[in-house]
Amino acid sequence: MEKDAGRVMVEKTVAGFGRLDFVIANAGFAIRYEKPLFSMTSEEIAETMLTQFKVFPVAFTTLAVEASKEMSKRYGSVGVNEAGHPRETGSIVVTLSEAALCPLRDDLLAYASAKLACVSVLRTLSATFGPLNIRVNGIAPGFANTAGPKKFYDRFPEIKSEIEKRNHLKPPFMHPGAVVPAVMYLLTDNYVTGEVIALDGGYNINMVSYFQNY
Ligand SMILES: NC(=O)c1ccc[n+]([C@@H]2O[C@H](COP(=O)([O-])OP(=O)(O)OC[C@H]3O[C@@H](n4cnc5c(N)ncnc54)[C@H](OP(=O)(O)O)[C@@H]3O)[C@@H](O)[C@H]2O)c1
Repeated sequence: MEKDAGRVMVEKTVAGFGRLDFVIANAGFAIRYEKPLFSMTSEEIAETMLTQFKVFPVAFTTLAVEASKEMSKRYGSVGVNEAGHPRETGSIVVTLSEAALCPLRDDLLAYASAKLACVSVLRTLSATFGPLNIRVNGIAPGFANTAGPKKFYDRFPEIKSEIEKRNHLKPPFMHPGAVVPAVMYLLTDNYVTGEVIALDGGYNINMVSYFQNY
C-alpha cells in the first residue's frame, strides 16, 4: 500500500469529477497458509498478519477517513426529506468476506482476522460519521473463482470440496457479479449504516444436517 494512498485517491477523484459521493473499498488479496501453524515460524506468522492488516483494515480505515473528510463538505448539512431521513448521504462500502463472519479455517487465519477487524472499523466509523450523513457498510461475499482463489483451490481440491459440502445454497462458488445488487442498495439507500450483508450462499451458517433427504 502506498503511503497516503487514500488521500491521493480522494484528491484524484475530486480533481477529476468535482466531488466524491461514495467509496467502495474492495481491492486486496488473501494470504492462504499452505502448512500447519505449528510448522510456521513466529516471523512468518507475524509478517503475514501485518501484511493482511495493512491491506485490509489499515487501508480501509485511512481511505474511509480521508473520503469522509471530503464527503462531509457536501453531506454534512443536507437537511431531511418528507420521511425525516437525510435527503442525501455519502456511502462507504467495504468488501469483507465469509471468512470475517466465520473465521474457522486455519489457512485463512491472517486474512479472516484482518477482515473481521474491518467489521469493527466500519461499525466505529458508521457511528462516528453518522451525524455527518455518511454511511459505512460492508458486504461479505462467499467464494468466487476469481484469479487468486482459483490458483489456490486448484492446488488444494480437498479444501474446495469441503466448501462445496458446507455451502447451503448452490453453486458453492458464486459469480462475482452476484454482489452488484447489494452494493447498489448500500450506495443508494439513505438510512442503513453499520451493517454487513452476507452474500455467501449460507456458508457462515454452520449447521450440520442429520437428515439427508431434503
Ligand atoms: N474471490 C473470493 O472468493 C472472495 C471471497 C470473499 C471476499 N473476497 C474479497 O473480494 C475482494 C476482491 O477480490 P477478488 O476475488 O476480486 O480478487 P482478485 O481477482 O485477486 O482481484 C483483486 C484486485 O485487488 C487489487 N489489489 C490487490 N492488492 C492490492 C493492493 N495492495 N493495492 C491496490 N490494489 C490491490 C488487484 O490489483 P492487480 O490486479 O493490479 O494486482 C486486483 O484488481 C477482496 O477484498 C477479497 O478479499 C473475495
